[in-house]
Amino acid sequence: MDDSSDDKQLFHKSEEAIQPEKTIAAHYDSHPFYVRADEIVLEGILKTTVLGDFVRQQDFSQFLRFIDVGCGGFAKNISFLRRFVLNDQQSMVGTDISLQSLALAQQQHPRANFFQANTERLPFKDNTFDFATATGTLVCMDQPDRGLQEILRIVKPGRYVYLSLYNKENIYYPVYRAAKFLRVLKKRGFEPLIQYFFVPCYAMVYWLANIVFAKKLRRISYREIQMDFYDKFMIPVAKFWNREEAYSLVGDRGQILACKPHYWGMMLGMLIQKKKS
Ligand SMILES: C[S@@+](CC[C@H](N)C(=O)[O-])C[C@H]1O[C@@H](n2cnc3c(N)ncnc32)[C@H](O)[C@@H]1O
Repeated sequence: MDDSSDDKQLFHKSEEAIQPEKTIAAHYDSHPFYVRADEIVLEGILKTTVLGDFVRQQDFSQFLRFIDVGCGGFAKNISFLRRFVLNDQQSMVGTDISLQSLALAQQQHPRANFFQANTERLPFKDNTFDFATATGTLVCMDQPDRGLQEILRIVKPGRYVYLSLYNKENIYYPVYRAAKFLRVLKKRGFEPLIQYFFVPCYAMVYWLANIVFAKKLRRISYREIQMDFYDKFMIPVAKFWNREEAYSLVGDRGQILACKPHYWGMMLGMLIQKKKS
């Protein structure tokens, strides 16, 4: 990756990027999404997702700039691209609305460039990037349509966007809705109950499920599980799509080259090619 690239020159209207969606920013500032992208996770992405299929098939040698929008605290898409795609000439940018997440991501990826930005107003010029990833980002936006519009704006015509959205046709949808009582408890000041009862219960289930389903034993820290709990059940905004709704989100702004669920069906991954003109 080329960290001496001129990405910073593309960074305009930085002050504007930090205004709205304060609740989401505050949520991820106190609980950044921080699930370690170890080899098992990266291999899993390669083998089971639309992103993995794309990476196995596509020749990236003509791609110069990559961006991960809403990268989170570990920026696992950056880890993935570094592991399977990027060479020293290609530049990698990460954005997020949460400063704490960005600080963690920067520690993980010292050579990538990170910017605080709301996806509703990305501080980059039109047609800048060859490939954009946004996984689990539009799902917590008030206006995901505007977010996608922005992502498509900064991608070059004919180039690609990989999105992953929450899948409405998965058990996670009713579970998130049922977990509303946890969010209400938090609002009413019962956060210790969440921290010292619900999170430890979740940790036990999580460890057990990992042993049973992941086949290989991963070392998962309690901290990661806690972050995962806050990400899955406590986010103040979560939007879900079925396949038809996901297609209409994209509309005629791009061509959907692939769409399939992953992560036990919880997410819907989509590869989009931006219209050439
Ligand atoms: C579920 S996490 C996913 C992180 C990462 N993309 C991954 O897949 O590991 C969602 C991330 O999107 C960020 N985010 C949410 N709304 C955003 C917005 N409007 N603009 C930029 N980032 C946003 C959050 O701060 C959080 O880090």
